[in-house]
Amino acid sequence: MSEKVLHTAICDLFGIKYPILLAGMGGASTPALAAAVSNAGGLGVLGAAACAPDELRQWIRRTRELTDKPFGVDTLLPSTVPSGGSVQKFKAELPQAHIDFAREFKRRHNLPDPDPAKMHGRGLAFSREFFNQQIEVVLEERVPVYVAGLGDPGFMIPEAHKRGIKVMAVAGAVKHARRFVDSGVDVIVAQGTDGGGHNSRVGTMVLVPQVVDAVRPLPVLAAGGIADGRGLVAALALGAAGVWIGTPFLATPEAGIEDFQKEAIVEASSEDTVVARCLTGKPARFIKNKWAEEFEASGLKPLPMPFQGLIAMPVMEAARQAGRKDIVPGFAGQSIGMIRKIRPAREILEQMVAEAVEILSKSMPATVRFAG
Ligand SMILES: Cc1cc2nc3c(=O)[nH]c(=O)nc-3n(C[C@H](O)[C@H](O)[C@H](O)COP(=O)(O)O)c2cc1C
Repeated sequence: MSEKVLHTAICDLFGIKYPILLAGMGGASTPALAAAVSNAGGLGVLGAAACAPDELRQWIRRTRELTDKPFGVDTLLPSTVPSGGSVQKFKAELPQAHIDFAREFKRRHNLPDPDPAKMHGRGLAFSREFFNQQIEVVLEERVPVYVAGLGDPGFMIPEAHKRGIKVMAVAGAVKHARRFVDSGVDVIVAQGTDGGGHNSRVGTMVLVPQVVDAVRPLPVLAAGGIADGRGLVAALALGAAGVWIGTPFLATPEAGIEDFQKEAIVEASSEDTVVARCLTGKPARFIKNKWAEEFEASGLKPLPMPFQGLIAMPVMEAARQAGRKDIVPGFAGQSIGMIRKIRPAREILEQMVAEAVEILSKSMPATVRFAG
């Protein structure tokens, strides 16, 4: 490990050593993974999108047991999701053709019904009320950083700031980043199409400098396809103050995904992902699988969030419990082609920093200084 410490404005803002954040990845960025990243000098962010309020509070408290360093919570606030929702109400509105497709798919692939006892909050239907309850927990627990992975967190920012909570929002387009500035966020994540999960139509290389220019002087974190020290340096050179990294941290013992899904990441090449709406209703990048193939071939149109999730997630949950890599290899970005083994989160982070310091020692972009 280099003696030099890579330092940017984001390190001062969050009180962290390195400008590297673990992206909030629903279910995958668990207390163990977030704490590992925070303990290694980055900022671990819990992927709490599907956590019911009680579970979220437990996750926050567990993270505090595992680290005394700052950390964050990421949830989703999609504006398209209506209020007054409940699982029963949304289910009653599902089209029969989609229900039939899911049932037939399960039959064709011999998937038993998922065991509800093993579901860990998966399969919950989203509603405005559900999101607001999650936000209440974040505020009550005074989590150091809150991240809205989808949607505008403006409504909770005054209260968050009163409690010393920094607020970030993820943007996949320049216009969204501008709107988040008007809402008062502290940091913007610019996530390009290379990334895993919900997705942009624009590549990281093109999106990041445009967002940097649009929101200056607000700090921007680059996301999507960054997997080593070269990617980190490239992000800094594009004007980012740090990086928001998801996919590489999936291939760690700490990640909250199944071992067969970690294997899928190690085995896959960068051409093995696809962007489609068949899982959540919004465009998301994941490893190619039979559900996506057969849904596409069916000619059915994906339903808007949260309805498509109510069709797809019970099937994904059944496939996860049955260990079916062909059906649920998981969300992942194009950087999977650069990931060749499962190793501790600390090792990934330290190697990234060491590589970046090595490169930057030869030529240093203006956004970076060496401290220590
Ligand atoms: C498995 C997985 C789950 C994700 N879940 C979420 C989520 O719940 N909330 C969110 O804001 N982003 C989510 N994302 C997107 C990440 O936060 C992040 O923007 C993305 O992983 C960055 O690109 P990369 O995967 O190339 O590192 C997810 C990504 C992956 C790979």
